[in-house]
Amino acid sequence: APLPQRICCIGAGYVGGPTMAVIADRCPAITVTVVDLNAARIAAWNDPDLSRLPVYEPGLDQVVGRCRGRNLFFSTAVEEAIAAADMVFLSVNTPTKTRGLGAGQASDLKWVEASARTVAKAAQGHTIVVEKSTLPVRTAEAVKAILGAGVAGKSFSVLSNPEFLAEGTAIGDLEHPDRVLIGGDDPAAIDVLAAVYAHWVSPERILRTNLWSSELSKLTANAFLAQRISSINGIAAFCEATGADVREVARAIGADSRIGPKFLQAGPGFGGSCFQKDILNLVYLCRHYGLEEVAAYWEQVVRLNTWQQHRIARLVVTRLFGTVTGKRLAILGFAFKADTNDTRESPAIRIARDLLEEGAQLMIVDPKVSERQIGLDLGQPAGEGEGSWRLVASVEAAALGADALLLLTEWEQFAALDWMAIAAVMRQPAWLFDARGRADEAAARAAGLNVWRIGQG
Ligand code: NAI
Repeated sequence: APLPQRICCIGAGYVGGPTMAVIADRCPAITVTVVDLNAARIAAWNDPDLSRLPVYEPGLDQVVGRCRGRNLFFSTAVEEAIAAADMVFLSVNTPTKTRGLGAGQASDLKWVEASARTVAKAAQGHTIVVEKSTLPVRTAEAVKAILGAGVAGKSFSVLSNPEFLAEGTAIGDLEHPDRVLIGGDDPAAIDVLAAVYAHWVSPERILRTNLWSSELSKLTANAFLAQRISSINGIAAFCEATGADVREVARAIGADSRIGPKFLQAGPGFGGSCFQKDILNLVYLCRHYGLEEVAAYWEQVVRLNTWQQHRIARLVVTRLFGTVTGKRLAILGFAFKADTNDTRESPAIRIARDLLEEGAQLMIVDPKVSERQIGLDLGQPAGEGEGSWRLVASVEAAALGADALLLLTEWEQFAALDWMAIAAVMRQPAWLFDARGRADEAAARAAGLNVWRIGQG
């Protein structure tokens, strides 16, 4: 199949940036331009200092360093890049609606619609439009209708190509995907997109489906993944109540090849911009099609997750003699998972907010999250006194005078801490609450700390 010569990607976010960087890296003959209305974000993608890219992903700086200025460009000239392209990816945000019909559940498609309209207006000749964003099933119908209303002399093929990368391992996931999914009803267009991926993905991993299966597979994949997390977290709470240990249970059930060992780590609940949003969207769509039992089933996955986050804040308060007012608590990790600077829907947000509400003073440590971002997430700037928070540079600084440490993100550096030195600067009796089950528990106990670990009865 012929290759596209110029690709334009609308949306320079966590998906658009890394995905296009890898395409440019693997396909030197294709010119890839990533555009965004957010000028500050584009400026950050163009920053000569590669440690200041707007998205932190291990290995991303090297990929961008190899291609940027060669066949990878970041720009705010949206229409110009669309006009020059023969393939346009829509990689814009699709968050949960906050108001109107379906508020709190349905995806807000206003950015998808706006970018489709821009494509309809600016495109020249024949253009393949690729849905990269996660979209409700049947969105391609709306995208086609918007594109079809354009002027004569233009034509479009619409494909669905959802992205399955996980933040924190995005580059590895993109370079070695389990599968690439392409949905569409125009075999020639599918061949062109498949030819792009064929530069580095073997043909049996490039799956072709109809449009609706492709759109729905992405929502379904995220629902299944999140369901595993809520399942093991529910069992973790049950372990705590009964004297079982969730690590042992996870190992025992994971040995069953039908279940498998991955994604069975109990924790403070899933976060990230996708799982909750995509399940709620699935719930909304099931209700729309009259499938109430199916909707209620998936809805419970999100409920359990929210419950788990409040549960952890609550048990911290209970163990600290029923009050944390004025107490210093060290929060280890604010990102929703390790190896990302993304905090969207991070369990740390809900847990921190609950503890602030109780009057705690939070000393937060995170290697990649900025003070500005934490302020936005917690709805208040850094400060002093009861119900306040500060970002500090080291675990030792956070532990100073603290009654407890809460391990909330599984950053590598939190696995090997000098527990003797930390315990020495804390106020006694001092606690470690390990919501990830990653700390060296024996060393923490040997240093005199009381330890609570997720799922340990
Ligand atoms: P993001 O919010 O980081 O990036 C989206 C970008 O699109 C923003 O920078 C925004 O300014 C830009 N944008 C919005 N409307 C625009 C327009 N009309 N013209 C130009 N630029 C516009 O979002 P993220 O995380 O990259 O997600 C994008 C999509 O990919 C979502 O649908 C998400 O569900 C999906 N997805 C996200 C994954 C993740 O790990 N973050 C993984 C797989 C899929």
